[in-house]
Amino acid sequence: MEEIEHAVKKCETLIRRGYPRHRIFQLIPKNFNPEEVYEIAKCRIKMRDKFTRHNLYFDEYGLRYSTPEIIGMYRARRIKGYTIADISCGVGMQAIFFSFTNPHVLGIDIDPRRIRYAKLNAKAYERDNVEFLAANCFSPEIIEKTKNYDIIFSDPARKESERERKLETLSPSPLKIMEKYGQRNYIFDLPPQISPEKVPQDWEREYISVNGRIKRLTAYTSELKVCERRAVTLPSGESIQSCERDEFTLESELSNYIYLVDESIYYASLLSALQERYDIEYLQVGKRRTLATSSRIIRSDFLKPYEILCDARSIEEIIECLDSNRIGKVTLMFSLDPRDYWKLRKKIEDRLKGEDKATLFRIGQLYVAAKNVT
Ligand SMILES: C[S@@+](CC[C@H](N)C(=O)[O-])C[C@H]1O[C@@H](n2cnc3c(N)ncnc32)[C@H](O)[C@@H]1O
Repeated sequence: MEEIEHAVKKCETLIRRGYPRHRIFQLIPKNFNPEEVYEIAKCRIKMRDKFTRHNLYFDEYGLRYSTPEIIGMYRARRIKGYTIADISCGVGMQAIFFSFTNPHVLGIDIDPRRIRYAKLNAKAYERDNVEFLAANCFSPEIIEKTKNYDIIFSDPARKESERERKLETLSPSPLKIMEKYGQRNYIFDLPPQISPEKVPQDWEREYISVNGRIKRLTAYTSELKVCERRAVTLPSGESIQSCERDEFTLESELSNYIYLVDESIYYASLLSALQERYDIEYLQVGKRRTLATSSRIIRSDFLKPYEILCDARSIEEIIECLDSNRIGKVTLMFSLDPRDYWKLRKKIEDRLKGEDKATLFRIGQLYVAAKNVT
C-alpha cells in the first residue's frame, strides 16, 4: 500500500501543476489502476480542510458523503464508552472518529473498495480499536456478529436526486435495519431536509450546523435519546433543546440590532426556545433565512449580530443612508437571482464613496442597512 501512496502523491503534485490527465497517466507508476490513483489524488485536493489528516483515501462518492471531522468528533464527544457497529461506514470516517472515545468500533460496508480505504484511513489516524469488514449489513452473519454491540450506527446512502427525502429510499433504510436488527439502541444520520413527520416521533432529532449553515440531522433512539429536538452549532458546540411546541410570533418593529439566526434553529423548530433564552423578536422566519431583532447586543453562536444603520422602503433612500455612513461595500443578504445580485450591488456601490462595509437585508418591502458587529 505504501507504493500506491507514492503514486497518489506523485499524481496529486502533477494535477496541482496543471498536467493534463492523459499525461499524468503516462507519468505515474504503472503497477496501479491509473483511474483509481487519479480519483484518490483528486479527492485529496478537493477535501481541503474537511479533515486534519491529508493522507486519506476516498472515491468521489465516499468523499462527498463522508462525515467532516468537526461533526464526527462532536458526535464522538456525545457518544462515549460504548461498543459501536457502524453498518454502512463508507470510507470509515465516522467510525474512525467514534473510535477516539469508544473502546471498540466495527465498520461494515457493502463496497469492498471503500473498506480497503477505510482501513488505510484508520492507519492515517493511528487508530487500532476500529475494525472493518466488507459485507451486506443485512446478511445473517453480520446481524449475528453485531448482536452484542451497544449501539448500531448507520449513515445510509442517499438517492442522488429525489423530490422529497424519505426513510424508505435511504440505503440501507433505517426502517429495514430496525426490522432485521430488532430492539436496539440506534443512531441514524439522516438528510436534514427530511420532513419531521417522516421521522418516528419517539426519536430525538439533533440538527448540527457549522458556521451557521445546516449540515447534519442525527436521530437517536431508545436509551440514547435525551430530548425531542436539539440544535448544536459548531465549532463552539453551543446547544439548545426542547420538547415544547414551537410557538412564536413575528414582529414588524426594528430594534437596534438585527440577527441572522443559525439555520439549525429553524430546522429543529426551536425558535421559541431561542427567543426565551435571549429575549429576541423574529422579523422573518424561513428555511432560507431567519432574522431576529433586539435592542441589546447578544453574544450567542446561534445569533450573528449586525448593528442597524437605517431602514427605508426605496433603494434610493438606502443609498443615501449608506453614503452618509461612509459605506463603500455592501453585501446583499436577501434572495436574488445571482445576475441581479451583482447588478444591484454594482448600482449601489457605484454611488458610494466610503471605505466601510455594510450588509443590506430586505424584510418584506423594507430595506435594512446594518454593520457587522465583531
Ligand atoms: C453515506 S455513506 C457513509 C459515510 C460514512 N458515514 C463516513 O463518514 O465516511 C453510505 C454507505 O452505505 C453503504 N451501503 C449501502 N447499502 C449497504 C448495505 N446493505 N450494507 C452495507 N453498506 C451499505 C454504501 O456503500 C455507502 O458507502
